[in-house]
Amino acid sequence: MNTEISHVVVPGTFDPITLGHLDVIRRARKMFPQVSVAVALSARKNETGTTFSLENRVEMVRASLDEAHLSDVNVYPFEGLLVQFVKSIGAQAVVKGLRAMTDFEYELQQSDLNTRMNPDIESIYVMSNPKYGFISSSVVREIASMGADVSMMVPSCVLQHLYNK
Ligand code: PNS
Repeated sequence: MNTEISHVVVPGTFDPITLGHLDVIRRARKMFPQVSVAVALSARKNETGTTFSLENRVEMVRASLDEAHLSDVNVYPFEGLLVQFVKSIGAQAVVKGLRAMTDFEYELQQSDLNTRMNPDIESIYVMSNPKYGFISSSVVREIASMGADVSMMVPSCVLQHLYNK
């Protein structure tokens, strides 16, 4: 069995994609020859649904990757279990960013569950770049909804989508 990791998935809700997400994708691409981004229909985390439709979120991720010259990264919408999706596209691992201890607790649980469901899929975490540690999609949505500037938090192609909401 070939145990090398050559294809990784960066999963998320991306509601919307931020500069923090983009940094994790860029760093994953430095480490692995093939990177795919998986955009979840909805996150289990809060079960409140998303602000942007799945189609819109995928579109924003694709445009942001183009803007960042990361066009060799594939973007897929997905529904259901992450481990099943990762296996279905032939990837071997998941890469996510960690900002604070609160992320750690949530991610540890996710990683434990994913390992129980499929021990062949590795979970890899990168520490968030200190420049972006304060950014989250929910903070971006909140600040943008009040009309304030979020251009230091999201790729420029996402700005218009936010102000249209
Ligand atoms: O952007 P987020 O909220 O950190 O992304 C979370 C996501 C989409 C990666 C996570 O909720 C997920 O993997 N959802 C798919 C369902 C699943 O496999 N859950 C894990 C075991 S219960």
